[in-house]
Amino acid sequence: MSAAPRKRVAVLISGRGSNMTALIEAAKAPDYPAEIVLVMSNVPEAGGLATAQANGIATCVVDHRAFGKDREAFEHAMQDVLATYHIDIVCLAGFMRLLTPWFVGQWQGRMLNIHPALLPAFKGLDTHARALAAGATQHGATVHFVVPEMDAGPIIVQGAVDVLPDDTEATLAARVLAVEHRIYPEALRRVAEDRSKP
Ligand code: GRF
Repeated sequence: MSAAPRKRVAVLISGRGSNMTALIEAAKAPDYPAEIVLVMSNVPEAGGLATAQANGIATCVVDHRAFGKDREAFEHAMQDVLATYHIDIVCLAGFMRLLTPWFVGQWQGRMLNIHPALLPAFKGLDTHARALAAGATQHGATVHFVVPEMDAGPIIVQGAVDVLPDDTEATLAARVLAVEHRIYPEALRRVAEDRSKP
């Protein structure tokens, strides 16, 4: 019996791409059910692009600034590239653009996001500072399916850390980031194997 074909994954980034790197590294295992075939960024200077290229992965920049306020035109340009690469699953990894219901609808059940908090707590930005300010005793990260509402959608995997008494935003962020790098590859594996559905 031949193994199921590996799912073709595009990772969308806007910055350093450490979660992207975790996905690339995981996908190097021969038994991993997905391969990273494309890294796309809306930011030409995104540091992750060089990492992707160093790993022999195709990269593409679709600069949102070229489209002004026309979000759908920006997204249609991204969609055209994703279609060219026959992408099965999209992973948002620090991709800092809100997506329209149209684009989300194209990828329903096939687009994942990672958020640095235990959703539904602390949606939005500055999650680590807000967790500290709230006196949270636990914090963490969530991989979820993307729905039109930001930082919502069915949860695939969560990972928690204890908040320590002497934590700063930086120390807490570093511990959560290590969790992110563990749970994103696990979540993508589940989705690629059809074990996790929205
Ligand atoms: C991560 O904390 C992720 O949870 C959030 O943006 C950050 C991206 O970091 N969505 P990196 O680019 O993956 O290093």
